[in-house]
Amino acid sequence: MVSKINLTYLLSAICSIVMIGQSVDQKVADLLSKMTLEEKIGQMNQYNGFWEVTGPAPKEGNAKEKYEHLKKGWVGSVLNVRGVDNVKRIQEIVVNESRLGIPLLFGSDIIHGYKTLAPIPLAESASWDLKAIENSARIAAIEASSTGVNWTFAPMVDISRDPRWGRVMEGGGEDPFLGSAIAKARVNGFQGNDLTANNTIAATAKHFAGYGFSESGREYNTTNVDDYTLYNVALPPFKAAVESNVQSIMNSFGLYNGVPATGSKKLQRNILKGDWNFKGFVISDWASIMEMTLHGHTTDLKEAAEKAAIAGCDMDMESYAYIKHLKELVQEGSINENTIDEAVSRILKVKFNLGLFDDPYKYCNADREKDLLFNSKHQDAALDIAKKSIVLLKNDTKLLPISKQDRIAIIGDLADDKTSPLGSWRIGSDDETAISVLEGFDKLGIPYQYEKGCTLINGKTEFTQELSINTNNKTGFTEAIELAKKVDKIILVLGEHGFISGEGRSRTDLGLPGVQQQLLEEIYKVNSNIILVLMNGRPLTIPWAAKYIPTILETWQLGTQSGNAIAEVITGKYNPSGKLPMTFPRSVGQIPIYYNQFSTGRQEKQPHVFWSHYIDEENTPLYPFGYGLSYTNFEYGKINVSITADGISASLSIKNTGEFSGEEIVQLYIQDIKSSYVRPIKELKGFEKIYLEKGERKQVKFSLTKEHLGYYTPEGKYTCEAGEFNIMIGPNSRELSTVKINIANFN
Ligand code: BGC
Repeated sequence: MVSKINLTYLLSAICSIVMIGQSVDQKVADLLSKMTLEEKIGQMNQYNGFWEVTGPAPKEGNAKEKYEHLKKGWVGSVLNVRGVDNVKRIQEIVVNESRLGIPLLFGSDIIHGYKTLAPIPLAESASWDLKAIENSARIAAIEASSTGVNWTFAPMVDISRDPRWGRVMEGGGEDPFLGSAIAKARVNGFQGNDLTANNTIAATAKHFAGYGFSESGREYNTTNVDDYTLYNVALPPFKAAVESNVQSIMNSFGLYNGVPATGSKKLQRNILKGDWNFKGFVISDWASIMEMTLHGHTTDLKEAAEKAAIAGCDMDMESYAYIKHLKELVQEGSINENTIDEAVSRILKVKFNLGLFDDPYKYCNADREKDLLFNSKHQDAALDIAKKSIVLLKNDTKLLPISKQDRIAIIGDLADDKTSPLGSWRIGSDDETAISVLEGFDKLGIPYQYEKGCTLINGKTEFTQELSINTNNKTGFTEAIELAKKVDKIILVLGEHGFISGEGRSRTDLGLPGVQQQLLEEIYKVNSNIILVLMNGRPLTIPWAAKYIPTILETWQLGTQSGNAIAEVITGKYNPSGKLPMTFPRSVGQIPIYYNQFSTGRQEKQPHVFWSHYIDEENTPLYPFGYGLSYTNFEYGKINVSITADGISASLSIKNTGEFSGEEIVQLYIQDIKSSYVRPIKELKGFEKIYLEKGERKQVKFSLTKEHLGYYTPEGKYTCEAGEFNIMIGPNSRELSTVKINIANFN
């Protein structure tokens, strides 16, 4: 006798055979025509859940009811279910027991790796190495897909100018040009060349749009972005992601023009789905539909469901708004069923694109899971990008690289920490799986003596809790100071614990947390040969260190291979090449601070106070965007610019004049000197990462077209205005040589 389950499977297999030869759009239309209203709404519904022995147990809500919903096909995707066994068992329920057997999407925040962790995204962005960044996302996808996950809520492409916001660790920094290139690289890495392969996953660009402008850097705070900034700064990385075929977009907790982004028709329907012709689907952020009522935009969950769906939000994450209210809203005529059809078609299309209908279990192979997670190839790639992410901020007395004769002390709680370097967002990884700095030194056989110096945090680190930072206990100071007296060089590892940045971790003070600044100053009194190794998830304010400490190495949170990467740089095995993707302020009071600002009407210093400045701080940053040193020196030649029919070509020669071979990131900026809309004093429009042997010279050439020279009006119209432009090239956004050109017209 044919069981019900087998019969359903047989029917869906027959359907699949019939569907072969049809285009994806035809397949979607065909399937949609068979669906009831409830089943359609089900596709727009996501549940957060974990498998338990007795069955699928959503974290919140009534488990039994949700199980019934799975069986009825009233769930389109599941969040946070990982592991081949778990995924398979839930997929089986839907495929075998629901009427149409439409497979689920399994989404997770695969932000910078799964079990093998790459550096946090901000750190990776400091590499400006698009191939390495793409490869890092590729490996994240390979590992995640081997555990059943087929959809990531990454990349976060929010541009941010506010390091108080803990989530800057998750993005590409402050610049829309670099941010767009990185968005593209990450989407390509996750999605690969073939979405139907079993090792590629659908990507999500988030948070649409303007979430990086959370007021005062406070997480979940309101946002205020004018249209000019929206089009020119916030949107370009999303547009780049859409052009790279990103499969989904997540909306945001913020506001746009006084309307929650989740309910903004202009953002989702007009710009994203209209102007950009985005073909994927929009997922809400966690409970962002429900929160529209808390914002004071809707009366209740029902009105929130109505407004979100009409505005173009296709899937509901954790508001339960769609499953509860969409049917009623359609039946009473408040929502047209076409709106539902459109949303469902988009979701089904992504499922077809992934090949889920051909094989719903394609990501569920336990052998793959075992072979791929944390394998040695992935460790090598993680080490490669970790080295490239390190930024040398200062090396005045050439303490770095260290030499074999140096007597070395390593001091700092973070130097011996195997969890903190993993950083925030480390869903599939285990505690204590990062290589610590001490282990990195051990591996290279470099002798050292170690003292902790002080404790950074009190108690155990919990992902869900605020960390308790030690602000008064100086136990360990004495031993560290005594050790410092006895050595040639001190490697002092200080900074933020990995959980001090990330979602929900906004800070008002960006100095070294706890008693670390005091430790630094105490050690400096007895031995100033300090190599300060910073570990942090955001730009910090370190004016004292920048003034007194001779050597500073920014190492962020570098992931699994952290200690190996740091040891390779400190010993000179790898010559640091990273450049800051975000400005380092002198003080929190300067924030927002970013390089591509507008000129004010009172820019020049005056003998009186009536010019644009602070009376207690300089205007300039501590370290500018694009900044980073090398163990060698690069000499920049004269810039040659020619205007051609296709645009502008700018070239120059760069020579390695120092003692080491190494990489340099050559940066090109433009300034549209006069325009109908005021343009920034500098805008990055090109960069090249080149490798030069000791003494080698290379020619670098940039081509600029209309695409680089124009801007968006506040109405979203792309415009190029003829006239004078400055073309600037140099090693960072501060040290630039300029050539002025005049473009007579744009064809
Ligand atoms: C975050 C999103 C994330 C989602 C699911 C939200 O709180 O803002 O970026 O993807 O949770 O974990």
